[in-house]
Amino acid sequence: MTFLFNSDAVRGAVFAKAFAGELPDLPFSMDPATVDPDAVRYLITWTIPQDLARYRNLEMVFSIGAGVDQFTMTALPDHVKVVRMVEDGIVRMMQEYATLAVLTLHRQMPAYRTQQADHVWRPLHQPQAAERRVGVLGLGVLGQAVLDRLKPFGFPLSGWSRSPRRLDDVTCYHGADGLDAMLAETDILIVLLPLTHDTRGFLDARLLAKLPKGAALVHTGRGPQLDHAALLDALDTGHLSAAMVDVTDPEPLPPDHPFWAHPKIVLTPHVASITQPDSAARAVITNLRRHFAGQDPVGLIDRRRGY
Ligand code: NAP
Ligand code: GLV
Repeated sequence: MTFLFNSDAVRGAVFAKAFAGELPDLPFSMDPATVDPDAVRYLITWTIPQDLARYRNLEMVFSIGAGVDQFTMTALPDHVKVVRMVEDGIVRMMQEYATLAVLTLHRQMPAYRTQQADHVWRPLHQPQAAERRVGVLGLGVLGQAVLDRLKPFGFPLSGWSRSPRRLDDVTCYHGADGLDAMLAETDILIVLLPLTHDTRGFLDARLLAKLPKGAALVHTGRGPQLDHAALLDALDTGHLSAAMVDVTDPEPLPPDHPFWAHPKIVLTPHVASITQPDSAARAVITNLRRHFAGQDPVGLIDRRRGY
């Protein structure tokens, strides 16, 4: 029975040390070339290896990241459990990024950057936090953590999910009607939805039009959820005031893409949140212990739903 680590060597060294200390009886390999394929029961990887079929006794595949949209699920036998990364480092970094983004947009930094470039010294009218409504699409691990971190600022908070949720001090919406109601009352929209069949292309012109005039977007989900042309149109007509975009399609953007130089877009290269090897190794070890005890791992994917 072997755990195969199929990712970068630096993270692998951290995992190897943690596994040696915590699960000394579970052989750990970082080398697909020398591992006995029949011994591999557990695999951690970012994408599904081409030669996956050689691991005939595979039981579980862990994603090295929070998303699993990069996995070709049909390449995996039905009985194989797929587990996304739920770990403190990813959560903390997403809380930081969302706070940075909300404050950047709330305090109108894109407009001040333009004024700076033009040598203009002009205070803009500044709405107070209580007047700036922040809504989060996706109330999973990350959406909830972001809302928790934003609470002390005093923004009216709301969130939207597929199934009904109840969260303290957050107005929760769900389903199609709930989406329209939430969008109509959202000044800063944060996207933390997984990429699935249902959410591909979700942030389109129709959705953006449902936001109030002057609203802003924080896109931290996945690139293919956003219609780039629709965002550019909403910004250029003044319907939206600004956007902070961390994920695009493709990644990286081509050199001539209009996002690079757009004065109302703050662009970051898919860095909102990055798996931290120490806490990720602990999370995977905890999940293996749960598995050995006959429990489902934290972050088990419903392969039918896609997240
Ligand atoms: P999660 O715990 O699985 O939560 C997903 C949330 O989205 C749930 O609330 C779910 O609703 C909701 N949802 C899914 N499909 C929906 C739909 N069709 N309509 C309405 N709501 C829907 O995921 P997570 O750990 O919070 O991560 C969310 C995503 O963040 C990841 O999948 C990844 O794409 C992205 N991410 C980005 C970065 C980055 O650096 N930019 C880093 C990490 C993660 P229910 O509650 O009803 O199930
Ligand atoms: C990063 O985007 C992740 O899925 O962890």
